[in-house]
Amino acid sequence: MKIAILGGTGPEGTGLGIRWAAAGHQVIIGSRQAEKGEKVASELLELYPKGDIKGTDNVIAAGEADIAVLAVPYTGQEPTLSTVKKQVKGKLLVTVVAPTKSPKARAWRLPSGLSAAEEAQQQLGDGIRVVAAFQNIGAHNLKDLDYVLDCDVLICGKSKEDKKIVMDLCADAGFRGVNAGALQNASVPEGLVSLLIAVNIIYKVKDAGIRITGI
Ligand SMILES: NC(=O)c1ccc[n+]([C@@H]2O[C@H](COP(=O)([O-])OP(=O)(O)OC[C@H]3O[C@@H](n4cnc5c(N)ncnc54)[C@H](OP(=O)(O)O)[C@@H]3O)[C@@H](O)[C@H]2O)c1
Repeated sequence: MKIAILGGTGPEGTGLGIRWAAAGHQVIIGSRQAEKGEKVASELLELYPKGDIKGTDNVIAAGEADIAVLAVPYTGQEPTLSTVKKQVKGKLLVTVVAPTKSPKARAWRLPSGLSAAEEAQQQLGDGIRVVAAFQNIGAHNLKDLDYVLDCDVLICGKSKEDKKIVMDLCADAGFRGVNAGALQNASVPEGLVSLLIAVNIIYKVKDAGIRITGI
């Protein structure tokens, strides 16, 4: 699949990008500046020379891709989606955004009462299928392709078919994806970001994760 990672120059986007490239996907690193996207893509190619990875700006990346992955900070969600709305029409948009707010990313807040994923769906309208995933995955070890990630990814969205596509992307990145119900449930994995950051700090570790048992 051709996957555009919008804001793909950060730790979460680069980590997922290199893993998807290693699984054989075409990865486009999107940035607000094409040159930055190109630079980060070439850095990823140094780490994984066999990968099909290129970089450009978010708008071109979204237009070329089959699937767009939104990996910007929450404050950048609304402005980024407004620049790519036309390009993602009719496509699947996977959002990894969690509305944490500095300086205390370890303390959870939900500014509008809706999850960031529901806000994205509201902004984009019904023609774009938003699925929330990867919020509970820390970026720390993602770029190390030999590192075994011991946790599940919670996937929230409307359509079973779209969640199956994301479940396959989870497997390609080295995780078990778990269908966690409707997009409305996305506030829970989004909230897990702050909770896991707090656990990391308290236990002095870097990649606390969660597992769903009993399934
Ligand atoms: N890091 C983690 O461990 C982790 C774990 C789970 C979920 N998440 C979530 O995943 C998302 C990305 O995380 P990250 O740590 O990779 O984020 P980040 O490094 O802060 O940002 C990612 C990229 O977004 C772009 N960006 C920054 N501010 C922006 C703005 N105001 N408007 C538009 N674009 C902006 C930048 O790319 P350009 O300058 O190239 O445009 C930046 O490189 C966040 O929503 C975060 O909550 C992160």
